[in-house]
This record gives sequence, structure tokens and C-alpha cells, in this order.
Amino acid sequence: AEVGVVLVAAGSGQRLGQGIPKARVLCGGRTLLEHSLESVVASGVAASVVVVVPAGDAVLSAVVDQAGRRTAGDRTVRITAVAGGATRAASVRAGLDALPSSAGVVLVHDAARALTPPAVFHRVAAAVRAGSPAVIPVLPVVDTVKVVTGDVVTATPDRAVLRAVQTPQGFDARALRAAHASATASDPGVTDDAMLLEAQGATVRVVEGDALAFKVTTPLDLVIAEAVLAARQP
Ligand code: CTP
Ligand code: MG
Repeated sequence: AEVGVVLVAAGSGQRLGQGIPKARVLCGGRTLLEHSLESVVASGVAASVVVVVPAGDAVLSAVVDQAGRRTAGDRTVRITAVAGGATRAASVRAGLDALPSSAGVVLVHDAARALTPPAVFHRVAAAVRAGSPAVIPVLPVVDTVKVVTGDVVTATPDRAVLRAVQTPQGFDARALRAAHASATASDPGVTDDAMLLEAQGATVRVVEGDALAFKVTTPLDLVIAEAVLAARQP
């Protein structure tokens, strides 16, 4: 099946604290959106990419236009932009609505995971193509995790069964569209797409993630991303 990618880049970047949308923040001299778009295209999995940008953001729209022009010649990948919504789930929904119906497999990816290696895209897409309706890349959790109510610990889940979840998350397109049509999709507590399919009783399968698929969320993450890029220079 043809793969379509929804690249969500419409967040405001509150925790990074630069006062501009996170996708516009520079890292190694280029925007986080440029890095993430490049990693999506370089993976070679996508026939189409819909980039979800903040409504009215001329800078990010121009980044998408430019990438679209660069790939227009080889006709292997179509890149377009669409305006996002108030929550991540609303932004994913906007991206899904703009994806061609020929995309039977959809990968939803955070633009903030700017340095995601091609192998992660390949593992996720391959597992969906092999018949899993929902596939997520995960890593073991390194810290002990507590359940806290107020300032009191109420439980300590067994760390061995916990996983930290990354993107791209891969789905059968019809299953993902159905999940996003459900009432819970508008709940602000919806932090990823797999949980919508879990709520519908679908089996969500895991594949191995990658440390480099970390999400640039805080100023420290940006320092780490800059260092990774600097170490790559010849
Ligand atoms: N996202 C989006 N639309 C929103 C919120 C988030 O497209 N309304 C995207 C972000 O652009 C990001 C991804 O979802 O690529 C993961 O979200 P997060 O890391 O939380 O980014 P922000 O919401 O921008 O950051 P913050 O929560 O710190 O404001
Ligand atoms: Mg957010």
C-alpha cells in the first residue's frame, strides 16, 4: 500500500520557551521543520507528505513550498501544507483530511522529532504493511516512574513493562480515520494517535524506536540536537 505521512508542526513550543512556534526554531542553522522534513523524505517511504503548520505561518508555509518544489521534479513524493488546530489531535485530523485517499498506510510524525533516523520509518511502515493496524516505536524506560496524587506517591508501576513512545506511529488509514472520528479524539488528554485505536479495541504493536528520535521539547533537548548535528560535520 502507498504510504502517506502526516507531519505535525503546528504546536506553539511553550516548553522550549523561544516565543515562536517550535518548528521555526533554528538548530544547526536550519529550522526544526527543515530537519524533520528532510528525514521524512530521506527515508523514502512516503508517496505524499502533508505538513501541518500553524494557521497563517508564512515562514513554515514557505519551508514546505520550497521542499515541495525540490521534490516536484522526481515525482516520487508530494509535499503540501495545511493549517493545524488547537490540539495535536486536531492537527493530525487536519492532516488526515488533506491526505490523498490512495494512502492506505498513514504515518503520523512529530516535526519536533527532527533527527529521526530512516530505519525507524522503515520498521514502522514494514510492520503496518505486514498486517498490524497500529504500530508504534518504543524504547525501554530508564527512570523509575511513580504515580503521584498531589505530592504523595500512590504507586510504582513495574518498570520492566513500561515503554517510552516515539513517532512515527503507523496505521492502516481506514482504522486511523475511524479512530479520529470518535468523540474521545477531541479530549485534550489525547497525547498520541495509538491511544485512540487502543480505545477502539485495536491491537497496537510495538517496534524498536531510536534514541535519535527523541522529541525536542525543552531547551536542554535543543542543546543535545545541536550537539548531534555538530558531531556529524565532516
Ligand atoms: N502539534 C501540532 N498542533 C498542536 C500541538 C502540537 O501540530 N496544536 C505538534 C507539534 O508541532 C509537535 C508535536 O505535535 O511537532 C508534538 O507536540 P509537542 O512536543 O507538545 O509540541 P508543542 O505543543 O509545540 O510544544 P509545547 O507543548 O511545549 O507547547
Ligand atoms: Mg504540546
